[in-house]
Amino acid sequence: MAGNITFTMIKPDAVKNGHIGNILKMITDAGFRIVAMKFTRMSAAKASKFYDIHQERPFFGELVEFMTSGPIVAAVLQKENAVEEFRKLIGATNPANAEEGTIRKLYATSLGENAIHGADSDENALREGSFHFATSEWFDANGNCLG
Ligand code: RTP
Ligand code: MG
Repeated sequence: MAGNITFTMIKPDAVKNGHIGNILKMITDAGFRIVAMKFTRMSAAKASKFYDIHQERPFFGELVEFMTSGPIVAAVLQKENAVEEFRKLIGATNPANAEEGTIRKLYATSLGENAIHGADSDENALREGSFHFATSEWFDANGNCLG
């Protein structure tokens, strides 16, 4: 599946603002298949580990605080060229720069609170998907468990 997999989180701002349904509809309408999915709230330890690549960045503390401020929807998604296609669908990190019709343009409020996460490489998609889900929670197109 590598190369066809991405990982996403609908972030706490979009959950609080009631956008889960609309965002999932945009994702499935764009041709992504849900491989794994859960509604969960990350602990500070888990969010710090997830974002460890940003540890030295000035916004790290703010990012962890925000990502643990409420529940998120985490999901593994499948589509051809998934990582790149999904980054196109979500738009630029800063919603002020996001293209019309992208998820961030429609639902993000600021650079920090930008509605949705998308993995930035095939390697990170697998790493992040495995971080949030056991193999037994991944399903193929026939509904068979991959674990
Ligand atoms: P993401 O990982 O969430 O999909 O976002 P991204 O690749 O577009 O952006 P990245 O550089 O990986 O940053 C991760 C998240 O950190 C927050 N951020 N805040 N205050 C700031 O300057 C700042 N810069 C980034 C955003 O929530 C961003 O999505
Ligand atoms: Mg990123």
